[in-house]
Amino acid sequence: MTGKRSAIRIANRLEEVGFSDIVQIRNKVLELRAAGQPVHAFHGGEPFFETPDTVKFAAVKALTDNRTRYAPSSGIDPLREAIAHKLEMKNRMAAGVDDVLVTVGGAHALYAAFQTVLNQGDDVLLFSPYWTPIRDMITMAQARPVMVPTETARRNGLTKSLEHYSTPATRAIYYNTPQNPSGAVFSRAEAEEVAKFAIQRDLIVFADEAYEDLVYEGEHVSIAALPGMEERTITCFTLSKTYGMTGWRVGYAVAKEPFMTGMRKVVLYSTNGVSTPTQWAAVEALATPQNAIDARREEFRLRRDLLVKGLNELGLECNLPAGAFYAFPCVTNISKSSRKVAEILLEKAHVATIPGVVFGAQGEGHVRFSYSVAPEAIEKGLEALRKVLG
Ligand SMILES: Cc1ncc(COP(=O)(O)O)c(C=O)c1O
Repeated sequence: MTGKRSAIRIANRLEEVGFSDIVQIRNKVLELRAAGQPVHAFHGGEPFFETPDTVKFAAVKALTDNRTRYAPSSGIDPLREAIAHKLEMKNRMAAGVDDVLVTVGGAHALYAAFQTVLNQGDDVLLFSPYWTPIRDMITMAQARPVMVPTETARRNGLTKSLEHYSTPATRAIYYNTPQNPSGAVFSRAEAEEVAKFAIQRDLIVFADEAYEDLVYEGEHVSIAALPGMEERTITCFTLSKTYGMTGWRVGYAVAKEPFMTGMRKVVLYSTNGVSTPTQWAAVEALATPQNAIDARREEFRLRRDLLVKGLNELGLECNLPAGAFYAFPCVTNISKSSRKVAEILLEKAHVATIPGVVFGAQGEGHVRFSYSVAPEAIEKGLEALRKVLG
């Protein structure tokens, strides 16, 4: 038959969706290591510490107690209750158990949120540089990501910038604080500004608070807790970063109706929920005392100060990031292309970083270092850089 397209093709909506560059860099590092080459690994996105034993034991106990059957697809009650309590105490969000949905990590919470709210042709305002998968997740929901340069916006006023990039099709704002990759933390005044804009324009806010416990300067403000925001905000959290649980794949979303019902459907028909033993482990993780979380943050702060000082001494100009665990220095004195810089650093110094451009055009001219490694590893990495750049 002529003119008929072959059946061997993927759905149209996936054609525009990219595959993460970060995975390709990770593969290159694995290749170098397999060839016996040492690599100073600053490219990761994981906490430096292991999952606490208490959390592991809770999973083992769930297994030996035969808690291995289907759980409710939206999450077991003890976990949703623990999350609702945490939201009230830490985030000042008035969320009940019915407003909480357990997801396969923060990524799945975001996926469910985008799928629930967005229609084909919608625009989503996205502060850039941004966490790479966000652009693709929005595209996969058949909406259009519209970049709002964060630095310029903060300098000139967020409202002015959000107004500038809004179109009649604007439906939502993706609001990430603390930010990956820049480590920027939006202030309370900025959160209030974004909230005011969202209410005035009748927009939905996707709040991504993956790094809520890693704020070194200023405070973490959950935008959903501001007046008038809970009905129009979907907040996505993860246990990955706070509790060293990246591989467990557990997070949660907080939303009001009608979004919660929509998101429950997305979870039911995508994963049918998080594995039951993992959810019991998550209950234990949420019982971690706040002083243990604070002590971890101080360990991160030490690493941040060490790396940022070293980078600046090397002439790689770097602001002190207020949150998360990334430094995002300017590297244009090596090359204008961040891909080229990351390549040079990896090949000549065996220092693995992520080129800033993969986080959006506004990230060009920078590379991302994660300082979530041992202080000695930071020292060794800086020494390797000094030999090449110094
Ligand atoms: C900004 C941001 N949001 C969400 C996530 C999701 O994390 P996970 O899917 O591991 O819970 C990450 C992970 O790197 C992130 O950097």
